Amino acid sequence: MTGAKPDTLLPLDPAAATPFYRQIYDRFRGAIASGVLKPGDRIPSARALTKELGLARGTIEAAYSLLAAEGYIQARGQAGTIVTPDLKARTPVLSPIPPSDGGMASTSFRPNSILPFQMGLPALDAFPRKIWARLGARCVRAMQPSDMVHPSVYGLPALRAQIAAYLQVSRGINCSPSQVFVTSGYRHSIALIAHALLKAGDRVWLENPGYPPTRDLFGHMHIASVAVPVDRDGMVISDGIKLAPRARAAVVTPAHQSPLCVSLSLPRRLALLDWAGRNNAWIIEDDYDGEYRYVSRPLPALKSLDRDGRVLYAGTFSKLLFPSIRLAYLVVPEAQIERFEEIADVFVGGSPELTQALVTAFITEGHFARHIQRMRRLYSERRDLAAAGLENVLAKHMRVDSQPGGMHLILRLQGKQSDRELSARMRKEGLYAEALTDWMLEGEGASALLLNFTNINSESTAENLATRISRLI
Ligand SMILES: Cc1ncc(COP(=O)(O)O)c(C=O)c1O
Repeated sequence: MTGAKPDTLLPLDPAAATPFYRQIYDRFRGAIASGVLKPGDRIPSARALTKELGLARGTIEAAYSLLAAEGYIQARGQAGTIVTPDLKARTPVLSPIPPSDGGMASTSFRPNSILPFQMGLPALDAFPRKIWARLGARCVRAMQPSDMVHPSVYGLPALRAQIAAYLQVSRGINCSPSQVFVTSGYRHSIALIAHALLKAGDRVWLENPGYPPTRDLFGHMHIASVAVPVDRDGMVISDGIKLAPRARAAVVTPAHQSPLCVSLSLPRRLALLDWAGRNNAWIIEDDYDGEYRYVSRPLPALKSLDRDGRVLYAGTFSKLLFPSIRLAYLVVPEAQIERFEEIADVFVGGSPELTQALVTAFITEGHFARHIQRMRRLYSERRDLAAAGLENVLAKHMRVDSQPGGMHLILRLQGKQSDRELSARMRKEGLYAEALTDWMLEGEGASALLLNFTNINSESTAENLATRISRLI
């Protein structure tokens, strides 16, 4: 047989929640990450592995095409399939695979805990829960038999109208309610875009570093990610054009780049729109935290400059309200409404109508706009005091990056400290941090910790937490 080591050939676990193709993918990725399989090593042909494991050929092919789309393996015709020879440069992608069942309920990217500095959470103590409870009770009381049937798969009409109005006023986006599709989160929006406009084998520019779930989702759909560098003006569009001029789409976080928090400059916004217009490519704007800018008014969305109908705008209620609400929205170009309705008819079951009615009431009655304004002020304060508290204690070891917006701080580690090791130690001690190097699609990247500040309510709290971090250095 070929160069594959025995681990990848052991029988799979039919009782596991993870499908077979994913188990095979995980094994190869694990073997490559741990060095059992080295760049240039041959792996079994799909046909041989099909026989060996007694599975359908399609299962093995799904795993192999995912590995190939993510750059781990390459098919070399007659010479067989091998581990990508220059994989060294991509080692950050090869971080150890998290166990699929770590005892914690799976949320597929972030744990469902509330730890200090936990990324992705708004200020949980500041959510107006009394108002929410009052509106919720009212919505439940008002429920009629007509509200108990299947919901519209495009979203509750009243909510679509409220989202369109909010986007016009707050993000400068001119769209009709029929362009707004309510989804269950950012990844759902991306999956719909991929189903509607992309196909397996397409290439898509992603920011490097960038939000890991985007890369993982495209990988699963056999869409290849092209890692485009980010500098202080956001994604370097000229590099994208050099790397993959004919890519089908680009995913950007223009307001505050995720995770570096820089804004995409106006010349770059125009260059990106120009590239997309010339190539009939799509721009996917992930505006996950565009409201949270502290040095000036929030910047209008990139979508507000879209004259050619190339931008798909993805927003979410996860940051503006809270993540467990599982409601997000996707604005599609007018010419694509029909295509997205077709896709929604097939792939969407609709979001809970009661929750949509509650959010609609929250917006209509002005609570939403007030909440965002309050949070903008609160986050600006909490950001400053969290940065001060951390700097007071940790200045010797790290430098806090100051950026105009966002919900997390970037702590640049001095010397040779590994962000991965430190964040792993922090998690063991009940603190939370993400390692910037884990967000690299390609290349090593700088060593830094990403720490959410929205739930740090005093400088002394930040100092106490910083003291705990300093003991781990
Ligand atoms: C870059 C980025 N995009 C999108 C999202 C929103 O994801 P969701 O709507 O699934 O909560 C987040 C949340 O953390 C994010 O950090």
